Amino acid sequence: MKTIQIQTEIPGPKSRALMQRREAAVPRGPYHATPIFAARSEGAVIEDVDGNRYLDFAGGIGCLNTGHRPPEVDSAIRAQLEKYLHLCFSVTPYEGYVAVAEKLNALAPGKFAKKTLLVNSGAEALENAVKIARAYTKRPAVIVFNDAFHGRTMMTLALTSKTHPYKSGFEPFPGDVYRIPYAYCYRCSYGLTYPSCKVACANALEDAFKRLVAPESVAAVIAEPVLGEGGFIAPPKEFFSTIESICRTHGILFVADEVQSGIARTGKYFAIEHYDVEPDLITSAKSLGGGLPLAAVTGRAEIMDAAGVGGLGGTFGGNPLSCASALAALDLIEKQGLLARSTQLGRKFAERAKSWQKTFSMIGDVRGLGGMCAIELVNDAASREPNAEATKKIAEFCYQHGLITITAGTYGNVMRILVPLVVTDEQFNEGLGVIESALAYVSSAVPHKQLATSNV
Ligand SMILES: Cc1ncc(COP(=O)(O)O)c(C=O)c1O
Repeated sequence: MKTIQIQTEIPGPKSRALMQRREAAVPRGPYHATPIFAARSEGAVIEDVDGNRYLDFAGGIGCLNTGHRPPEVDSAIRAQLEKYLHLCFSVTPYEGYVAVAEKLNALAPGKFAKKTLLVNSGAEALENAVKIARAYTKRPAVIVFNDAFHGRTMMTLALTSKTHPYKSGFEPFPGDVYRIPYAYCYRCSYGLTYPSCKVACANALEDAFKRLVAPESVAAVIAEPVLGEGGFIAPPKEFFSTIESICRTHGILFVADEVQSGIARTGKYFAIEHYDVEPDLITSAKSLGGGLPLAAVTGRAEIMDAAGVGGLGGTFGGNPLSCASALAALDLIEKQGLLARSTQLGRKFAERAKSWQKTFSMIGDVRGLGGMCAIELVNDAASREPNAEATKKIAEFCYQHGLITITAGTYGNVMRILVPLVVTDEQFNEGLGVIESALAYVSSAVPHKQLATSNV
């Protein structure tokens, strides 16, 4: 049976009726990538309230690396339901929290003693990473990167780069946050080319100490090992080792934000492992909870202990159901070999996308790390002008033909793949087939100046 089954127009009548209720009851702020209301989901498939079935290449924005409701996670949640729900770790501690911390301490890179704090969301993990870094270093400032996304709370909006729709109108943000270029090689801030550039962007950190903020005032440099919302950009190998070594010289902590790139997404538990760098602190969230909300800060034990008793925590942080789900999901990654599967899916995507690039001049760049992969869409290969309009149309074509995808990028012109790693080969090929049809459809509908040539 084919996975994709469209029985009604998209959105169908039940989805349309629910959207009317949603518009009356919920503010417009939360965005929707699709106008489809879900009825149920399993593995890499979502069924909507009108009975249409879709392949899910978005995974709830990367939260479902182990798939929708895997039976093992489902059973662990049900077993926990029989015992207790909320207790609050700060009132009556429980084993699940400690077990998740032990597991993350063991999985995070670095053969040093580590500790883990559990919280509810990615943004909350970043907030806590800043608190912990300041408590340890007794310094105020934080350095972040262009095109970074770290969340929607006030501190994390200060860390986030993109102005619209995230920051505009919500100012002022907390201060002492400084920003430098990321290794976005396709659109290099310095107009240079790798490797002859000698990662000038990483060395710009030293320059920032002269022009932006004194190094002795900097608590941490925070970076996503692969930009998530910023467009799935994986820097060259030397980028992070250079940043880490400059941080070490100045007693600055290096924090890897692995909220989107972590938990098997790139073929390793943490994307920073590809760079042989051992961050002082790592934030994780999204797929950590196996579909339930859970986030973490994992780091060197002495740094994690810098905040005093009662200085960290929160009512719901590390709730028992999320911990049970996380332990089952982490187990599943190992048992089902999802690290290798992620690498394999990334390879398949790159092969197919590079073949598209020969036909469709609107594909400017094919990139990623393992199963965290993307295409960047442009007007034509020569100008590299971002093509957000085509990207939006491709995403629309996809969901109308049974494939859920999401976009990314500062210019809104990146199509990113966050498919559950449990997707079958047949399903994955089927989804890639829909993207290919979307490219063909949009290429004929959207004029471009130049026909297919290789761009790089
Ligand atoms: C790298 C990164 N950091 C932080 C966040 C914020 O996470 P949350 O939405 O759970 O607050 C996100 C969310 O997309 C993210 O991708």
